[in-house]
Amino acid sequence: MTIKIALTKGRVEQQVVPLLEASGIDCSGVRNKGRRLIFNEDPNFQIILVKGPDVLTYLNNSSVHIGIVGSDILAEQNNPQYAMLDMGVGKCRFVLASTRDFNPQQVRRKIIATKYPNITKRYFQSIGEDVEIIKIEGSVELAPLIGLADAIVDITETGTTLKENDLHVYAELQPVSTKLVVNRLAVKQYRPEIKTFINKLQEAQKNLGV
Ligand code: PRP
Repeated sequence: MTIKIALTKGRVEQQVVPLLEASGIDCSGVRNKGRRLIFNEDPNFQIILVKGPDVLTYLNNSSVHIGIVGSDILAEQNNPQYAMLDMGVGKCRFVLASTRDFNPQQVRRKIIATKYPNITKRYFQSIGEDVEIIKIEGSVELAPLIGLADAIVDITETGTTLKENDLHVYAELQPVSTKLVVNRLAVKQYRPEIKTFINKLQEAQKNLGV
């Protein structure tokens, strides 16, 4: 049986590939991919590279058995699949951030820009505040700088993007890390194979000190 994995391309991919390799999977194709998107170098695994939200689309439609994706995407999409392992990488956090002159107590209804409208809505509901949310696809940090929004809700890892754009953190929301998620049918059909793979990943985590 070939285990099919949808891996989030970009930062998650870079941090997960060493773990996959340490658990015995041939990732030479992923490392030298050019513009390829599908990798069959390892006879027991097929890896596809997709954007985070698409990992869940492939997983929910049973096109892959396993998805490797940030918990930010899982939380935003309210995903019904099984998160079976915290990969111990891709660690970052959600923050509310804005310019230095932002007043969190402002009387006017706040406008918040974000790639994560559901997480943002839940956060402001939890503190009893009604805000207007504007969905942005990327470079969210621009929004308060050019007057589109009063503040942003976004993930930050190193803090460099906030710092270089002179943005300040006003609240810490939830932490984020990369999760391994398994399709519900696959959990039932291929339990031994998936269990073995997860055990090897856990070994790799220990060996790499992740
Ligand atoms: C994410 C996030 C921030 C940045 C934070 O964006 O939305 O912009 O990373 O990282 P840092 O704290 O290490 O600077 P991403 O790079 O995924 O791209 P995007 O701007 O297209 O959303």
